[in-house]
Amino acid sequence: MTPNPRAPHHVAIIMDGNGRWAQLRGRPRLLGHHAGARRVKEIVRACPDLGVKYLTIFAFSTENWKRTQSEVAGLMRLFKRYIRREAHDLKAENVRVRFIGDRVKLEPALVDLMDGLELATAENTGTNLTIALNYGGRDEVTRAARRLAHDVKLGKLDPRQICDETFPRYLDTYVLPDPDLVIRTSGEARISNFLLWQSAYAEYEFIDTLWPDFSAQIFAEVLVRYGLRDRRFGAVKA
Ligand code: FPP
Repeated sequence: MTPNPRAPHHVAIIMDGNGRWAQLRGRPRLLGHHAGARRVKEIVRACPDLGVKYLTIFAFSTENWKRTQSEVAGLMRLFKRYIRREAHDLKAENVRVRFIGDRVKLEPALVDLMDGLELATAENTGTNLTIALNYGGRDEVTRAARRLAHDVKLGKLDPRQICDETFPRYLDTYVLPDPDLVIRTSGEARISNFLLWQSAYAEYEFIDTLWPDFSAQIFAEVLVRYGLRDRRFGAVKA
């Protein structure tokens, strides 16, 4: 397939609607998350043909701890299972995996798997998959400010050097380009603390489809619509 020259370089996705998808079928919410994980695989695999080099997905937010203990525990089990099961294919398919978010609150067994997958795929040069796990935009900016203040205190950084080029170096996403397109599934039109700094000039698509129904075909259609948009980054058209 010829890569689409107007494809977004970096797509970020808020994968919403797993719970409703399961409830509509009279099934437990966790079943929706499992179906959602299968879509993750399909969407990651679709990226090279669609010309998407960076894909960032919101798997668990700093606010998701407020869910029932059994749903949180089930999601943590699912993340561990996903990493164990998919590591081989991700590596073989040239996907470079990174995680963003605060790892401190995550159980050590999960953090070990995350570190292992990052290391195992570090040399890959294909799709850059970033999984946001225990991630919140405000939390990320706050942690960045703390690290930056520390560097100022140590004399490593002069406060006069702090600008919109130096600050993002302290964010979890320091190696990633800003997202061009943010997609949220399930019909909700909000950003829920996702990539707050990075999405300043992103385009948004709010899709009614629930995440477990979000196919590679729908993904491709969303990208075609994105290609028709006129991005001006605050400037006027020449
Ligand atoms: C939001 O849907 C979804 C989540 C909080 C979890 C996202 C997780 C996955 C897609 C599972 C797999 C991910 C990886 C990386 C293996 P919701 O439960 O809030 O849906 P609702 O709004 O219908 O309740």
